[in-house]
Amino acid sequence: MPRTTARTAHLRAAGVSFVVELSSPLPRILHWGADLGDLTDEDADALTLTADGAVLNSALDLPRQCTVWPTEADGWSGTPAHQGHRGGTATTPRVRLTGAEERPGELVLRLADEVSELDITLTYRLDPSGVLGVVTELTRPVAGPGQDRAPYDLTGVTALLPVPHRADEVLDFTGKWCREASPQRGGLRFGSHVREVRRGRPGADSPYLLTLGVPGFGFRTGEVWGLHVGWSGNQRWVAERLPEGAGVHGAVLGGGELLAPGEIRLAPGDRYTSPVCHFVWSDAGLDGLADRFHNLLRGRPAHPATPRPLTLNTWEAVYFDHRIDRLLELADLAAETGVERLVLDDGWFAGRRDDTAGLGDWTVDPAVWPQGLTPLVERVHGHGMQFGLWVEPEMVNPDSDMAREHPDWLLAPSQGLGPSWRHQYVVNLAHQDAWDYLLKSLDEIVTRYAVDYLKWDHNRELHEAVARGADGADRPGVHAQVEAVYRLIDALKGRHPGLEIESCASGGARVDLGILARTDRVWASDCNDPVERQAIQRWTGQLLPPELVGTHVGGPHSHTSGRVTAESFRYLTALFGHAGIEDDLTARTPQERAGLKRWAALYKELRPLLHSGRVVRADLTDDATLLHGVVADDASHAVYCWVRTATSTKAQSGRVQLPGLPTRGGYRVRVRTEAGLPALHQTSGPAWFTAALDGWVPLPGSVLGGAGLPLPTLEPGQALLIEVTALR
Ligand code: DGJ
Repeated sequence: MPRTTARTAHLRAAGVSFVVELSSPLPRILHWGADLGDLTDEDADALTLTADGAVLNSALDLPRQCTVWPTEADGWSGTPAHQGHRGGTATTPRVRLTGAEERPGELVLRLADEVSELDITLTYRLDPSGVLGVVTELTRPVAGPGQDRAPYDLTGVTALLPVPHRADEVLDFTGKWCREASPQRGGLRFGSHVREVRRGRPGADSPYLLTLGVPGFGFRTGEVWGLHVGWSGNQRWVAERLPEGAGVHGAVLGGGELLAPGEIRLAPGDRYTSPVCHFVWSDAGLDGLADRFHNLLRGRPAHPATPRPLTLNTWEAVYFDHRIDRLLELADLAAETGVERLVLDDGWFAGRRDDTAGLGDWTVDPAVWPQGLTPLVERVHGHGMQFGLWVEPEMVNPDSDMAREHPDWLLAPSQGLGPSWRHQYVVNLAHQDAWDYLLKSLDEIVTRYAVDYLKWDHNRELHEAVARGADGADRPGVHAQVEAVYRLIDALKGRHPGLEIESCASGGARVDLGILARTDRVWASDCNDPVERQAIQRWTGQLLPPELVGTHVGGPHSHTSGRVTAESFRYLTALFGHAGIEDDLTARTPQERAGLKRWAALYKELRPLLHSGRVVRADLTDDATLLHGVVADDASHAVYCWVRTATSTKAQSGRVQLPGLPTRGGYRVRVRTEAGLPALHQTSGPAWFTAALDGWVPLPGSVLGGAGLPLPTLEPGQALLIEVTALR
């Protein structure tokens, strides 16, 4: 079909431009990247004029296009924007533009496809942070006379955006329990780099942020394009490069939900809404991308506004040993240390003496808690601390009243269960009775004990996640499960507006912007070993600002890695997040508790900066060292953590630029010693460091951010905290 050129729509924010030509039959993306400034009509015409590549040999007789809804109809041979069929027919959509609306920061395109009989609304929302959110809505109009009423089986919807040829290197993430958010990086090859998530949750190996960049990009430099799929279920992510490119662009980034066969069947009147796919561009490297995500999240009306309370979580302190005397002593010591929120972890509910039983029975175990949770709650609140409680509403142990009484509530095949995982299975939250029961149980517990905070856990992947139908048929249930858990959290929060919720899934296996739209922080990992945590936190922070990431000080001997680590290293690692303690304070000496108390005071002093400033990470050539920090927006105040995780052959750092500081103006620097000092692998110096141990040392921006500062050589497993303030 011939194309007609038309007016362009231009969204601009925070140095980003997104330009779409509103052409027929389909609009196409002219540009996504650096701000192009105010586009005059001539500028827009020039963009359109240059939007076509050559007509190639042995190819379509028209220049190829990258439209907003690529399909085979326009000669697209890559991942299509949508796929499906109606009983084996209607497999070649022919989508066309029917309307376009521009609002501040938003472009809404209305499309229609007579082949698949779908009306499509494609919404691009450019947030003030520069993050572009893309949502698609597919509606099967109500059937008219003579219209085929057979359902349209939707098999995939992918939001696709083009990136230029120079984006030639790919970075994304993988991981496992206790090693979440691990980066992997390489050249972008021809074909599809596809990440499919089939775990029913993002997983410890979540792709997290699929990034393409100009080769060599780092934390501080380079042009990068990234995508995050904001969804807590199955997902499909793609970075795809075909030899012919994508119109004049080089490749596409795409994302959406991974749908099981038959999972979405659109009968007349039905609608499917995709997750939000967050597309982000920066010419300031990975820190530039992180900055945009942090601004996006901080700009939300529901972003936590109160100081993030120093937390004590009881898991590694007592596990299932819920003796009230022990817990009361823990609460007293927590208060003395400066803790502001105590969270009672797993083990409080009926039959839960270990992890083999009890999930599903959300009432307090009278055998262990004869007076209910009241004695502990009163002690915690009496100390002025908030009370938090662990729950895992989406799961059930076969050894529970819930499983015995309601076998039909399981999200599992009706003929035989697959293998259990931590002795548990999944509850079908889309089953209205199960959902009602869970809301009622959670509501009662939260109300009765004035619970301020829930640690909402999710310790099993969704395998064979089928809903048991009343007709005896099993149907795919992941999509409905995710929507139902979102509704459950929303309903609970609706009833308890001040309630905060943490997303935990065996640590960081459910960290995504879908769950974070309704929760207040994540538990990034079950690993509190600071060596591992430095890596996990630095990359979890690629998307989330520090105030949304739980970071706890564990005991000297890590429960999950076996490594023994220095106290100050554990303190300084946990400082850069929503800090807490995951340790048995009753087992600590008075000296150790005094150290924790000093660290707690330091956290409270620095948290206004830590939880509002820009996260910065230095590009260093020595992999065994890390330098990261938080810099106030106006660069008047900063803290940096200089870390050595292992030994290296390089004997000293030489001058290191403190990232995020201007190279002008006067500053002063000191070493913060409250959390202890690192062991050094050197005799003395550098001179500024020796002086900064005793107090402020004036140093100009030209040295700190410009020429650089020589940093001391630390022993492995050590960290140093440096504070910088501007001279007025
Ligand atoms: C897994 C979580 O990640 C842990 O922090 C802890 O809450 C346990 N579950 C409790 O069962």
